[in-house]
Amino acid sequence: MKYSCIPGTEEKVSSIGLGTWVLGGENWGGTREDESLAAVDQAIRQGMNFIDLAPFYGDGLAETIVGRSIRGQREKVFIATKCGVIRSNGRIGVCLSPGSIAKELDLSRKRLGVDVIDLYQCHWPDKATPVEKTMDALLHWQKAGAIRHIGVSNFGLDLLKKACAAAPVKTLQVQYSLIERSVEKELLPFCVEKNIGVITYGSMGGGLLSGKYQAKPQFEKSDARHMFYKFHDDTKYNDSVRMVKGMKKLGRPLNQVALNWVRGQKGVMTVLAGCRTSLQVIENAAAADWDLEWTLNS
Ligand SMILES: NC(=O)c1ccc[n+]([C@@H]2O[C@H](COP(=O)([O-])OP(=O)(O)OC[C@H]3O[C@@H](n4cnc5c(N)ncnc54)[C@H](OP(=O)(O)O)[C@@H]3O)[C@@H](O)[C@H]2O)c1
Repeated sequence: MKYSCIPGTEEKVSSIGLGTWVLGGENWGGTREDESLAAVDQAIRQGMNFIDLAPFYGDGLAETIVGRSIRGQREKVFIATKCGVIRSNGRIGVCLSPGSIAKELDLSRKRLGVDVIDLYQCHWPDKATPVEKTMDALLHWQKAGAIRHIGVSNFGLDLLKKACAAAPVKTLQVQYSLIERSVEKELLPFCVEKNIGVITYGSMGGGLLSGKYQAKPQFEKSDARHMFYKFHDDTKYNDSVRMVKGMKKLGRPLNQVALNWVRGQKGVMTVLAGCRTSLQVIENAAAADWDLEWTLNS
């Protein structure tokens, strides 16, 4: 495994991190508990110490699974979870108010069985709560010792600037892949300039860039591959088919090409790989064994 530093510190996190949305099961066609526990354990054995979570993933299930896996080996992992995506009366919304953060943080720590969260990230922007109020709340929990570093996810440039003015924001989490490069315009250059570590998701295109699909797959409407990564969108799917064709010419496993292209971009600290099984963990961790130099037309 290769490691990067949390900006401004000497703390090392793996350059390929474990993504756990799939372990929540509900948006990914279900999961098997034994398979999920084995995947997390394998990630730790592969030196993938960065584990990305959110209470939203399986309504707490991903955090519960990881909590069970890290018992007795807490010091081997860097726990990054999130706040802000809330379920209420069967609906999903965003809330980053101080009261809501306090409740979510308490539940995450209990599910994970840890006193301290290493990186606590605002999952999505909340239009109703001023970002300064949210950052004040996070600073409070940082001073109280419940969280170590503050991060944000899916923030646009203006909001990110406001958040950085209010608190020491260490990381930004964004979607970034060979077929989704919009962050290159403004966000990546800003993060490089301000020394904010970029964590990427969807870097295998939700699985599309692994090359495992021979034809356009169909998923339930609630499945992440339908509603979030939009596999059903013809343009998106055809883009991925064209990209996979080019990737194949490199003669390397496609999942690793996809991860390594993102890993090689300036400013990227950790590339998340969503892993359902122990085998996927091994295949994705192996991306760190080699580097890719492949320049695409912009
Ligand atoms: N901040 C946010 O808003 C946000 C949004 C999305 C994701 N995330 C985070 O980022 C992580 C990574 O993103 P993601 O999981 O959504 O997408 P991803 O990493 O691009 O794709 C994950 C999917 O790729 C497939 N896959 C993984 N390894 C493979 C391999 N070696 N060979 C073939 N297929 C492979 C699996 O598909 P199958 O399920 O079909 O096996 C897996 O579910 C998430 O788990 C989550 O932690 C954050």
